[in-house]
Amino acid sequence: MNKKSDTEPAPALKPDTLLATGGRDPFSHHGYVNTPVYHASTLLYPSAEDFLAHRGRYQYGRRGTPTSEALENAIQGLDGPACAAVALLPSGLAAAAAALLSVLRTGDHLLVTDSVYLPTRKFCDTVLARFGISTTYYDPLIGAGIAALMTPSTRAVFVEAPGSLTFEMQDIPAIAAAAHAKGAVVLMDNTWAGPLYFRALDKGVDLSIVSGTKYFGGHSDLMLGAVSANAATAKALKDYTGAAGLCVGPDDMNLGLRGLRTMGVRLARHHAAGLQVARWLAARPEVARVLHPALETDPGHAIWKRDFTGACGLFGIVLKPMPQAAANAFLNALTLFGIGASWGGYESLAVPFDVTTARTATRWAPGGPAIRFHIGLEDVSDLIADLERGFAAMAAAGK
Ligand SMILES: Cc1ncc(COP(=O)(O)O)c(C=O)c1O
Repeated sequence: MNKKSDTEPAPALKPDTLLATGGRDPFSHHGYVNTPVYHASTLLYPSAEDFLAHRGRYQYGRRGTPTSEALENAIQGLDGPACAAVALLPSGLAAAAAALLSVLRTGDHLLVTDSVYLPTRKFCDTVLARFGISTTYYDPLIGAGIAALMTPSTRAVFVEAPGSLTFEMQDIPAIAAAAHAKGAVVLMDNTWAGPLYFRALDKGVDLSIVSGTKYFGGHSDLMLGAVSANAATAKALKDYTGAAGLCVGPDDMNLGLRGLRTMGVRLARHHAAGLQVARWLAARPEVARVLHPALETDPGHAIWKRDFTGACGLFGIVLKPMPQAAANAFLNALTLFGIGASWGGYESLAVPFDVTTARTATRWAPGGPAIRFHIGLEDVSDLIADLERGFAAMAAAGK
């Protein structure tokens, strides 16, 4: 907020206003617009009595500072009134791991979508397995049918929509209702839409995970993760992250907070530009399928339209059958699209992918090479001209 106020609580604010005001309290900081970056470990107490009683709003750098509080409050505001707590983690993968470890114990069974982000899958198959937690992967399109996979020891269901790399949409309210009916909690990797375009906790998710590395940061210079919990899971989340000593460096938290201020305008542009490029690609003779749930022709479009309020700049394509070398020639000829992991920055990216051997509950056999695009903030006509150059190189390589 920008003014001192002792009036009634503010009315519910719209997302763009929450982005501009969330986590800010200028008059606690001499009127400065932004919350200062506290580089802090030790915090001094006025007396031995205060120290023994842990008296004071803050106790120790790892346990929270005005900087971490500002970022947590800003994220909590975006997740809405159902959000009871936010934990900050050093990466999106760490956020997924922390959310899982908050609610699972030895002997538990976990259901995970087959379309999950691959390193999350690796965490389940290695660390969770080592602690005696078993994972079953399920078809992302299962919907209410998830009930049939639940056993008396199923403690959690992990969803991600759209799916990593392959962009399947999941019916999250239906899955959540089935999970809750059998006493399981629902965790979601909500990085693609984020709290701006999918308020996960309002749709039945108990723990919503976001890689802040992507659009919170928005500039490809930050690693950050966040977990937002509802009232049912907030204590478990905060108890676990506190006990495990998980925290984020102050400059990284500040980059996340700074990025949030412009996330609304950036995402609107990523959404519009992404769809424009996706539509252009759909009309190309070399392209067999575009994987983008906001396209009317996508099999997941009805669910996207019902549950989500926007799309980010990330989608995929499947090319018609051709040698991988032709797809590589396309990628290598692009000058505005970088080839690299992650996404969510201001710059465009294009990477080849193949999850044929990664999936266990479903079969990925698209028939041709596949590419994932991130559409950045460049002028769309320049991006399309670059893609045209890529297709020319593909044709030359195919000869
Ligand atoms: C869907 C999804 N979830 C989680 C992550 C992991 O985030 P981070 O790179 O911040 O660990 C990624 C990274 O690419 C991702 O694409």
